[in-house]
Amino acid sequence: MPFLTTTEAGVPIQGPSATLIYDDWYPALRTDRLRKSKLAKAMLLGIPLVLGRRGDGRVFALRDSCPHRGIPLSEGWFDGQRVTCRYHGWEFEPCSGRCELIPSLSKHDRLDATRIYATAFACEERDGHAWVFIPGPGSGRRSPGAQPPVPELAKFGPRYRNAFLTADLPCNVDHGIIGLMDPAHGPFVHQAWWWRSRASIREKTKRFEPIPEGFRMSAHAPSGNSAPYKLLGVYGQPVETTIDFVLPNRRTEVIRCGDKWFSSLTTVTPVTASTCRIDVVAAWNVFYHVPLVTPIAKFFGARFVRQDQITMIQQAEGLRHNPSLMLIDDADKPAKWYFALKQARLDAAGGTEPRHPMDGPVELHWRS
Ligand code: FES
Ligand SMILES: [Fe+2]
Repeated sequence: MPFLTTTEAGVPIQGPSATLIYDDWYPALRTDRLRKSKLAKAMLLGIPLVLGRRGDGRVFALRDSCPHRGIPLSEGWFDGQRVTCRYHGWEFEPCSGRCELIPSLSKHDRLDATRIYATAFACEERDGHAWVFIPGPGSGRRSPGAQPPVPELAKFGPRYRNAFLTADLPCNVDHGIIGLMDPAHGPFVHQAWWWRSRASIREKTKRFEPIPEGFRMSAHAPSGNSAPYKLLGVYGQPVETTIDFVLPNRRTEVIRCGDKWFSSLTTVTPVTASTCRIDVVAAWNVFYHVPLVTPIAKFFGARFVRQDQITMIQQAEGLRHNPSLMLIDDADKPAKWYFALKQARLDAAGGTEPRHPMDGPVELHWRS
């Protein structure tokens, strides 16, 4: 049955679902929610999770379900060491999931509680997010060494400011991702006096190259019609930007201008098969000494993300009726590459040799 959710606007949305990519890291929640002896709930790929931080600082993620009778572990207690189920008081070490105590066992019982496990997921903290590795159904417990590195925002020095933004999107992850890489919506969705207007549309030519499990918009001077890029011009040095997309869901952008830099990592994470969430973490040393630059950046960033969110709420309304859709050249070429890369990853999980959809560098042309 399709998942039902309610958007901020109060509109029930029932969009189509997407195939999900397992065996990868996804951001579950901000770690400032993991306070001492508190449990926090999250959902990734339709899996309910309970997260927390042990007394020694390590973060953990368990399936929010007691292996005894399935009550959510988030309903129980956490003392900084063990999670206790509120139904029969079984106690679990939360990083391994190992059961350490079953209070009902008597001296006549032979059951070894420590052979019972709640489902624990690999969980690591990076850039203020708790990242959780979601293995494929049936891929079993992996040793930590078998996992790819935890995604991390690129930084180019010890002194920087940073910010974080998030928005729930009522559409499936595919629409969230192709919206993220879509170059043609800017002049219409992101109109603002400080950014650009419809009248500022001009022809663009960008070079793209294949990278492992993704593609890169090769290093280039950013468009002259974008205000934030113009701001960097005050440093009087050439500005260069590189944008990568890598499966399953990560867009990284690095803008450099001499020793000044701005870096962002944007992810679109499936919450369920038919809903997703966009998270942006950014760091920069541009205008490091200018007061209020972080709140101002957050204000404009939030407005930008909100514009995308409103558009996707409207789109989800249309998608409820399963319209047929199209992808055009060249503005939708990145979306086509995304679907091909994703299919290659899914086929590889079935044993087929993965094939990159790009043979080499190409130029794309569009107006935006
Ligand atoms: S349901 Fe959790 S201890 Fe029984
Ligand atoms: Fe956008």
